[in-house]
Amino acid sequence: MDVLEAIRTRRSIRKYDRDAAPVTAGELRAILGAGFAAPSAHNRQPRHYYVVRDREKRETIARIGRYTKMAAEADLCIVIAGDTSMQKSIELLTMDCSASIENMLLAAHGLGLGAVWCGVFPGASLEVDTLTSLVGMPTQQVPLGIVVVGRPGETRESVDRYNPAFVHMEEG
Ligand SMILES: Cc1cc2nc3c(=O)[nH]c(=O)nc-3n(C[C@H](O)[C@H](O)[C@H](O)COP(=O)(O)O)c2cc1C
Repeated sequence: MDVLEAIRTRRSIRKYDRDAAPVTAGELRAILGAGFAAPSAHNRQPRHYYVVRDREKRETIARIGRYTKMAAEADLCIVIAGDTSMQKSIELLTMDCSASIENMLLAAHGLGLGAVWCGVFPGASLEVDTLTSLVGMPTQQVPLGIVVVGRPGETRESVDRYNPAFVHMEEG
């Protein structure tokens, strides 16, 4: 699948095939590699990735968030954290982690897996303290997202969201 096709056809997948083979170590490595490959401000790469495969831990992630229920049925979650000792700006940290998350979603899709981005930020509808202690995250790191991954248990059509009304070409 080429990059434009991957971008065009990616959808959030929240249902997973529990009878299918688990995500392999090679697939996980490829997804993480895509995360590391993302751009970051000043190329500081201030991102950490916590892989959660354990079922009980995934059930906790499902329970502590209003929009994270799918984590219980997935194969794994990747909690992504920004390192405030490497990048002081929370705005840049958030952008750095977001670029990484999108890369991981596209990589998962390109591998035939299903994934969804769950937003995490201070004040989000998710118990952030429970999440950080669950994965053993040190205090200088701030969790900024969770990528939930599994073998797809649903098919979702691609949608063309191009809207010329929101494209502002220069005059002339
Ligand atoms: C910053 C951000 C946070 C999101 N958080 C959640 C979430 O907590 N739970 C969820 O199910 N989907 C979440 N999503 C996925 C969006 O709901 C989804 O991308 C959107 O509905 C468009 O659908 P698509 O991804 O299939 O194109 C999030 C997406 C973004 C970009």
